[in-house]
Amino acid sequence: MAAKKKLLILAGDGIGPEVMQEVKRVIEWLALRQKAAFDVEDDLVGGCAYEAHGTPLADKTLARAMDADAVLLGAVGGPKWDSLPFEKKPERGLLKLRKEMELFANLRPAVVFDALAEASTLKTELVRGLDMVIVRELLGGMYFGEPRGIEALPGGGRRGVNTHVYTTAEIQRVARVAFELARKRTRKVCSVDKANVMEAGVLWREEVQKLRDGEFPDVQLSHMYADNCAMQLVRNPKQFDVIVTDNLFGDILSDCASMLTGSLGMLPSASLGAADAKGRCRALYEPVHGSAPDIAGTGKANPLATILSFAMCLRHSFDMAKEADRLEAAVKTVLAEGLRTPDIMQAGKQQVTTRAMGEAVLKALDKA
Ligand code: NAD
Ligand code: IPM
Ligand code: MN
Repeated sequence: MAAKKKLLILAGDGIGPEVMQEVKRVIEWLALRQKAAFDVEDDLVGGCAYEAHGTPLADKTLARAMDADAVLLGAVGGPKWDSLPFEKKPERGLLKLRKEMELFANLRPAVVFDALAEASTLKTELVRGLDMVIVRELLGGMYFGEPRGIEALPGGGRRGVNTHVYTTAEIQRVARVAFELARKRTRKVCSVDKANVMEAGVLWREEVQKLRDGEFPDVQLSHMYADNCAMQLVRNPKQFDVIVTDNLFGDILSDCASMLTGSLGMLPSASLGAADAKGRCRALYEPVHGSAPDIAGTGKANPLATILSFAMCLRHSFDMAKEADRLEAAVKTVLAEGLRTPDIMQAGKQQVTTRAMGEAVLKALDKA
């Protein structure tokens, strides 16, 4: 019998453990119904890891992540740890995981479920049927560029520095992911940069175009400035299919895209590394949202982004398309039945807690 797939769960801080609890119940459901059994381990990342080990990512945890077939992460951070030195901050734990696991491509799909088209703060006809993906570069640019830091100035005052930097190789590997993804969709990619003000943006644009012309002539490529893209996302989002962009723009534009789907609590993501000889790649699945300290502990968190991230995990890391389809269909069902956490609540619908939403997904799985 084949060895069970190793799944490492890092629930993290704030609402992280609350939303992850509902994924664990889905995992138990899969095991009980003999659909799939995983070798599941739990560990700490972020503020909780700092409390336990004095570091947001212990070496042992990193080693487990490197060894796992896939990692599921909830969220990290919170006001309690905001004034820690930079290297101790919860967010550094997540950034280190991404770096060490070499997860350079972050796929953030923004899909509007029919039942939620009216839950968006945007006009229904603008968002109904939206199905787009932001491919965010995850290991370069402003997040990791050197030099960086805060230094004292001789005459008083201080200077804060971050560096926006990209190489050909970094741009091309993420652009390749976007073009390959586009081939499975409508063969349309929009590359987003600030080539009008940044040299690294000029390079981004040139390298993406070069790759398209050389290897993906069948894919239609357009370029857009990031500020315009933010505007176009709320003006006419259905013009987009695949967007490829750098680390910082991708972070911002994906939070923006989440509101098209109704809530940040709906957006899943997959952070992927390069494929090995067997076509397998390191992968971490995480909702796009953070630890939501404002609602942590109140039962208001929407678990669907994390549940949908697990569906991406089933599909991409475990070749379980049938189970992934089934889980996504279950989410669709509970939304069609009118169940809503407060972030997607609409008049005439039934408001439920994190736990009740998770339970409803299990019931829908039972019926599917
Ligand atoms: P956030 O994403 O945590 O929250 C933004 C807003 O969205 C809040 O009002 C929150 O209540 C709401 N929200 C988020 N997720 C929700 C969900 N599942 N259901 C219902 N409502 C939800 O962003 P923030 O407040 O700017 O950051 C809080 C902390 O989270 C910070 O420490 C930040 O660094 C961290 N953060 C972590 C991640 C991550 O772990 N991947 C991502 C973003 C932010
Ligand atoms: C995200 C988050 C992270 C990021 C933080 C928590 C490091 O905002 O995953 O979107 O900025 O990448
Ligand atoms: Mn973010």
